Amino acid sequence: MGPLRWAIDPWGKTVPIHIAWFLIWVAALTGLLFVIVHAIYVRFFAKPRQFGPDAAPVDPTKIPARVPRHSLVARAFHWIMAAAMFTLLFTAFLPKVGVQFDWVTYHWIAGTVLTLSIVFHIVHASFFLDFWSIWPDRIDLRDAFRRTLRFMGKPTPPPERFAKYPLENKLYHGAIIVTGLSAIGTGVFMMFRVRTIFFPRNPYLFSDMTWGMMYVLHGLAGVGLIALIMMHVYFGIRPEKLPITKSMIFGWMSRDFFLEEHDPSRWVIKPASSQSSAGEKVED
Ligand code: HEM
Repeated sequence: MGPLRWAIDPWGKTVPIHIAWFLIWVAALTGLLFVIVHAIYVRFFAKPRQFGPDAAPVDPTKIPARVPRHSLVARAFHWIMAAAMFTLLFTAFLPKVGVQFDWVTYHWIAGTVLTLSIVFHIVHASFFLDFWSIWPDRIDLRDAFRRTLRFMGKPTPPPERFAKYPLENKLYHGAIIVTGLSAIGTGVFMMFRVRTIFFPRNPYLFSDMTWGMMYVLHGLAGVGLIALIMMHVYFGIRPEKLPITKSMIFGWMSRDFFLEEHDPSRWVIKPASSQSSAGEKVED
């Protein structure tokens, strides 16, 4: 059995119709394997993290006790998107593994919420947040190289503390962009195949081959998201990451945690005196 399901179109041509659903289990097991291997590595093998000195001397009194990390709007976006994402995953895949219900309506509604929230996020992040904070920079790449050398036991200076986001978070965000936009781009067109409130149904918009490839891409992005979301939730509940998860709920992280992991010259925080209230006057 291959990774795709095929059918014969009215003209006798073989066309793909969607992915084979065993890929759901492949993705879930990949996610689970990653979690298990990572947890064992951290518990038994990883050395304590070491950072080099900050680029500029830090005066801790200039850092507020509660360092603002995510504005209320950014947090609202994150949790709306998370709710839409889980609804999409469960409505899409439960029926494929035997839990039958009328899933399509819930699915396209959640898809619409996700699409609108992502459009909002792109505008918000491009014009109101620090757009470049989520893309790898030169120091990230140099430090990734240093960390790899250290992992292999080769002598090299320790990496610097992180800017607002560690490289791993930036790479994860990139993977979510690719899979998320693939699911959204195809999903919007797939709404022409079902009855929605937005436009009349038109299954003849594309050829069978194009529809088939679209369903395949939608399915591949979907199963990819199973593994990615599993990893994301796992990191979110790891004890050493809880301060980051809490900051996605309350908006701030403690000064101690900030100084332990972040370099104030790479993630510039307004001095304590110019903060009005915790978590709200936020440096995005
Ligand atoms: C986490 C993201 C998503 C996942 C995991 C996901 C997964 C799936 C899967 C597995 C199917 C069944 C496809 C098939 O039979 O080959 C499906 C169908 C569908 N998806 Fe998604 N999807 C996601 C996002 C979206 C979005 C954002 C939209 C809309 C903007 C959307 C709209 C649709 C529609 C309309 C169908 C029904 C097509 C039909 O029954 O003919 N999906 N989705």
